[in-house]
Amino acid sequence: MNARRRAVLAAGAAGAAALATGCGSSGGDGGGNAGSPPPSDGGAELARTADVPVGGGTVLKERKIVVTQPTEGEFKAFSAVCTHASCLVSTVSDGAIGCPCHGSRFSITDAAVEAGPATRPLPAVRISVSGGAIRRA
Ligand code: FES
Repeated sequence: MNARRRAVLAAGAAGAAALATGCGSSGGDGGGNAGSPPPSDGGAELARTADVPVGGGTVLKERKIVVTQPTEGEFKAFSAVCTHASCLVSTVSDGAIGCPCHGSRFSITDAAVEAGPATRPLPAVRISVSGGAIRRA
């Protein structure tokens, strides 16, 4: 019984440590935690506007960014790292960005949480759009 209790306590401590690691700091001061937007890469082209469907979006897995077009001609970009436990979001459908790990969904307009377990929106990534190219701002 005692051994079992210790095992449960140990698992609880490991879970708490994982939770702390997964959440990182939430100060929003760009400390490089998992939930922060990826670092800027000098205005590199992320995508072509024609590749981002109106009312939907495109997940750029290698850059860990999701680009959306909530209404025609309006483009947004967010970190693709889920604020719940740092999985990469993988889908954009029905006006929401979806995370495959635990089912969180985020608005394509402002990345607000539409369904948990995530509680914080995806951090915004600044972009500029010109000549059909979407770039980091
Ligand atoms: S990591 Fe995305 S829902 Fe848990």
